[in-house]
Amino acid sequence: MIEEGLEFSAIKGFRDVLPKEVGYWQFLEASARHLFSLFGFHEIKTPIIEKTELFSRSIGQETDIVSKEMYSLKDSKGRSLSLRPEATATVVRSYIQNRLYEKNPVQKLFSMGPMFRHERPQKGRLRQFHQINVELFGDAGPISDADLIILSMELFHVLGLENLTLNINTLGCPACRPHFKELLHRYLEDKAEALCSDCRRRAETNPLRVFDCKVPGCKEVMLDAPSILESVCEHCLRHFDSLQYYLKESNIPFVLNPHLVRGLDYYTRTTFEIQTTELGAQNAVAGGGRYDGLVEQLGGPSHPAIGFAVGMERVVALLGGLGPPNLDTPVFFIAALGEKAQERAFGWTQELRKEGISTQMDYTSRSLKAQLKQADRLGATQVLIVGENELESGKAILRDMASREQEEVALENMVENLRKVVFPDE
Ligand code: HAM
Repeated sequence: MIEEGLEFSAIKGFRDVLPKEVGYWQFLEASARHLFSLFGFHEIKTPIIEKTELFSRSIGQETDIVSKEMYSLKDSKGRSLSLRPEATATVVRSYIQNRLYEKNPVQKLFSMGPMFRHERPQKGRLRQFHQINVELFGDAGPISDADLIILSMELFHVLGLENLTLNINTLGCPACRPHFKELLHRYLEDKAEALCSDCRRRAETNPLRVFDCKVPGCKEVMLDAPSILESVCEHCLRHFDSLQYYLKESNIPFVLNPHLVRGLDYYTRTTFEIQTTELGAQNAVAGGGRYDGLVEQLGGPSHPAIGFAVGMERVVALLGGLGPPNLDTPVFFIAALGEKAQERAFGWTQELRKEGISTQMDYTSRSLKAQLKQADRLGATQVLIVGENELESGKAILRDMASREQEEVALENMVENLRKVVFPDE
């Protein structure tokens, strides 16, 4: 919500993730971590700021990300630094710098965190957004493509998100792509009038980018453009066929989309994107591909790699449509009435938490009605009620918030008694 007239509010395209939404983030992060460990991926954390050149050399000088969207600044020594617009370049830098390949020829890494792109903010598009980023180094074959793509689809499956389309394409390799670029360049030569000014430039510098343009005139021109699938070399085609075989064998439906070029220059061969119809124009929830030349290009050994990134805000938006996830709701709320009861409640609260049982209490000893209301708001499953009468009789009241049934629980050994309620089979 934007408060008019506030002296300080978050800057355009940057937003807070408020507690009511955080449960979805935790659900997404926990599901991803669990799944990634099943697939043998390990977490890596890289800085959010790097030398600008790392990004321009990897993502590509001609891309929108590098030419228009980076948050760059000069440090006190006059060096140009940039907030990371994506994670792949930083992970590759770390892979090279820390010689991660020496420990294991196949390195599987994932990371999560904020990225920064100075794009025009709109629904599903922010200037600070978060990605889950997954990279697999050291294998060039189609099985690792299939494994990684299956992992990306499985993530959405475990989250309960099913209505998604997997688009795949191949962009060829340094041996065959120049031929396709030339074909495309020739195709676009006499269509300059129908293209937007950006695409007129792209037609000269990087004609594949024209496939990415959203301007209707450019889209129409590209409908009849030559297909990369007819230009790639035999090796690339075999790789791509094999990937499709493994996806089919694993019952992963996909759409072959020869127009899928992606907005970053480092890709070779396989590219893919997972799309939804539920978020309007910003329909990509994840995207990635192979980048066999990047490690060497940045000064490392000649190691192939493939990866993808998931847009966390977009996934959270989809999760919101499914209703609240299994949040970590408090199990017990202790409604204490009067100072003495509060003292006992405070002790029980601390001890129950040490037992791993989520517990909250009211700090101010309000009326029972107010405390029950608070317990309800917090989603407590059980409320322990204790006042002067209970202290005298030696028994407190335990109320089940769903059924509204009540039972008595002895004050003596209270923590043990409550433990039995949570773990009856122990
Ligand atoms: P990307 O396609 O630029 O790829 O971004 C991946 C995902 O991040 C997108 O599909 C989208 O869900 C999300 N995303 C991108 N920009 C925004 C934005 N402005 N606001 C909200 N969400 C956004 C990459 O970044 C590559 N590094 C992926 C990769 C990893 N390729 C190989 N390894």
